[in-house]
Amino acid sequence: MNRAKGLLTMFLFVAAFIAVPAKAESIASFPKDFLDWPVVKESVNLPADAVLPPDTSLFIQESVRAYSWINNGLGSPLTIRVHPNKLAEYRTHGPYSDGPTAVAVSEAQGIVWVTEHIGGEAVYGSYNRQGKDISHQHPSLQPTFCQSCHTTYKDICINGTCAEPVLDVYSE
Ligand code: HEC
Repeated sequence: MNRAKGLLTMFLFVAAFIAVPAKAESIASFPKDFLDWPVVKESVNLPADAVLPPDTSLFIQESVRAYSWINNGLGSPLTIRVHPNKLAEYRTHGPYSDGPTAVAVSEAQGIVWVTEHIGGEAVYGSYNRQGKDISHQHPSLQPTFCQSCHTTYKDICINGTCAEPVLDVYSE
């Protein structure tokens, strides 16, 4: 094989790899001890038939709609826990030190959403209670989807966390 042909083969080989869509994977790691973390908020994933007040912000409408499939559309209690060493950081919406920061646990279905900080940046992950990565099980469980809210809505979700102290709307 001449050199040019060799390079071409090599290129096609690499291109084939790049073309394969990357499997969604959690970036935040699973905090095994999350059940020992203090609860900062008891909230809900609203059911699919929830009627929101007409003046509900677009952000909240999107948040509700994104997870209305949870528990077959019946909704679920949602428990928010924060790493014991990060309570003060959470109250001020950061800046955050490195490591797992907060979890939101959708209780009915046992989904553990994880936000972790690495070098000050928020990264995300979705696990079941046993710590199995489930981010590939639904488009809304993929880290890029988490980013589309948590990192994009910078006026509401500051430094990657959305709930406290801004969104009282959610607490009953
Ligand atoms: C459509 C918007 C939206 C998307 C997408 C989203 N979240 Fe959230 N997230 C919220 C809102 C709103 C809250 C606050 C809920 C409350 O206060 O009841 C929240 C709360 C949280 C919390 C509790 C800590 C905090 O205050 O931020 C974690 C952890 C979390 N989300 C992780 C994730 C992960 C992981 C994903 C992706 C699998 C994700 N979120 C996708 C809107 C979103």
